[in-house]
Parts: sequence; C-alpha cells; structure tokens
Amino acid sequence: MTEQGANNPERATRAKTSSAAELFAPIREELAAFEQEFVRQIASEIPLIAEIGRYVKDGGGKRIRPAVLLLSAKLWRRPVTPSTIRLAVVVEFIHTATLVHDDIIDGAEMRRGRPSVNARWGNQITVLMGDWLYMRAFEMALAERSFEILDVLTQITRKMTEGELIQLGHIGDLFITRERYFEILQRKTAYLFSACAEIGGILGGASPLEQHALREYGMHLGTAFQLIDDVLDFVADDESLGKPAGNDLREGKLTLPVILLVERGEPKHLEMVRAVLADGDYQRVTRQELVAVLEAEGCLERAREEARAYAHRASACLRVVAPSPYRDALDRIAEFTVERTR
Ligand code: IPE
Ligand code: IPE
Ligand code: MG
Ligand code: MG
Repeated sequence: MTEQGANNPERATRAKTSSAAELFAPIREELAAFEQEFVRQIASEIPLIAEIGRYVKDGGGKRIRPAVLLLSAKLWRRPVTPSTIRLAVVVEFIHTATLVHDDIIDGAEMRRGRPSVNARWGNQITVLMGDWLYMRAFEMALAERSFEILDVLTQITRKMTEGELIQLGHIGDLFITRERYFEILQRKTAYLFSACAEIGGILGGASPLEQHALREYGMHLGTAFQLIDDVLDFVADDESLGKPAGNDLREGKLTLPVILLVERGEPKHLEMVRAVLADGDYQRVTRQELVAVLEAEGCLERAREEARAYAHRASACLRVVAPSPYRDALDRIAEFTVERTR
C-alpha cells in the first residue's frame, strides 16, 4: 500500500474542502479491494438475488462508512488484512439493508439517481432483499469469530431499527422535541458511523482510550451527517441528491430546521407547517415558500451550525491518535460531511 505523500507539507496545508475521491486517496487500493469483495459477497445462485445485488452494486453510493472503517483501521499503519476489507463490506451491507427498507417505509421511488429497489421490484421482494442483506452481513461478521465486533454490530443494528420505529411514532407530530429528534437521528444514523470507526480501531490496534475516542468520533460524525441530510432535504434538488428532495415533511417527519421554526411559535408559520402535514404534500404551501421562511428565520443556518459543532467535536476526538494522513482524512471527512451538497 502506498504511503507516498504522508509527509508532504503541501498536502497538509492545501485547501481543506475536498472531493470524496481526494479524501479517500490514502485508501484508494483498499477501497478497490472493498468493491471487489462487495461483488463477491452479494453474488448468489438465486437469480433474483443476484440481479438485485448487481443493481444495488451498480448504484454505487458515497462509501463513506467503509471509508471511515478503513481509515480508522490504518491509523496505526498496520497493513490492512482481508478481514478488514470484509468488515468494510459488512458495514456497507448493513447500510444498504437499512436504505432498502427505509425506501419502503418512506415510499421513496428514487435512490442514488435511479428507481429505488422497491420502485423496481415492489415491496414484498424488497423487504426480503433487505433481510437477506442483513443476514449476509452477519454471516460474514460471524466468520471473523470476534465477539467484540459482533457485539458492536448487533447493538447498532438494533438501535437503527429502533430509530426508524421511534420516528414512525412521531409521524405528523408538530411538537416533537429537539431531544427526541436527536435521539432518532443518533439511533438511525450515528451509531452505524460509530461502529465503523470503532471496528476500524479494534482491527487496527487501538488502545482502549483510542477505541473509545473513535467510537465518539463516529457518533459525532454521524450526527453531523444526518443533520446535513435533513438540511439538504429542504435546500437541494432530486437530481443532486439522487433521492427525492423535500420528502421529510411530506411524510410527516419534522427535522431540526422545522423544529426550530415551530419552537418560535409564530402562528402563521405553524399554520404553514400544519398545512403541509395535513396535505401530505406541498400544495397550499409550496416548498419554496416554506424554505424561504426557514431561511429568513435562520432555521437552516442554525441547523447547519449545529452540524458544524458536531463535526468539530468529531475532529477533537481524533486528537488522542498520532498524526498521519489517515487521521487527516478522517478529520477532513468531518468537514466534508457538513459542506457536502449530496
Ligand atoms: C443515506 O446515507 C442515509 C442517511 C443516513 C442519510 P448516504 O448519504 O451515505 O447514502 P449513499 O450510500 O451515499 O447513497
Ligand atoms: C436515514 O433517514 C435512513 C437510515 C438510516 C436508514 P432518511 O430517511 O433521512 O434517509 P434518506 O434521506 O431516505 O436517505
Ligand atoms: Mg428515507
Ligand atoms: Mg433524508
């Protein structure tokens, strides 16, 4: 694996905002091995599974979770083993399973710029494909014979399901609290990020202190990631996101920008939110009108600010680890997460 550029001062000082490809440069080879392993593991002798597997693989994705796992595993500069590559596939399979199920739950017809699995194959097949991906992930994880890693993976997968369930219990809830919102977001998104960093640490040789720091790094990073996902749901379009924008409120999900607006209690703004919830769509109130209010009231900026604060907390956790290009990349992923547009 190439370590070139590790001590290149230009690298350390160059502009911080980068593309995902740049950020992942220190693990380019490992990510290529990850893609190969992904194809191998999603293959099946059952034609329908193989076909959906190819479709899912071709859809790509940002691969941020496996990247976090691989970068964390390299922090102590040990060579990456086939086990590490397999576990990177495990976390991406778990992520994919949750997305496949999430799109059924959210009635989303687009994912990664193409029809979602449910839009193409229907809900029945998609539920089972999600189950298959979960079980394939756990089969692979079990093969590593590490109770420590299995313990992390089973707990966070349960928490993700709990997050989606708690969220369903608040559909249409105009007065969902900030605390509840953060609880949902941490369960459905942040715990998986935390597992990626922690498992990377376990495989790479982290001390207990470093392992704890990586777990916290992942929690903060994942929180920032979902906060921005929720902001992008208001400000971005379908094309750049590759998934339906504006869906959260249509589906009755109040996210931080709207929670902040509701907290202000201005009656005409409450009426706007109520109208979207009642219509299940932007009809009487258009998306542009609501976004303009959120912008004018500073709710979007406050949500971004909150995401930035979590990204900074994530970066601060990395201080216990010795400097390296891998630590640098993890640091910049936190920044990338809040600056991203897709
Ligand atoms: C989408 O995750 C689900 C959320 C937690 C917001 P990503 O934005 O990482 O999805 P892909 O894998 O890049 O498509
Ligand atoms: C995150 O929630 C989904 C999971 C963690 C499964 P969202 O519903 O916001 O994710 P997107 O926006 O559909 O990707
Ligand atoms: Mg969704
Ligand atoms: Mg979303």
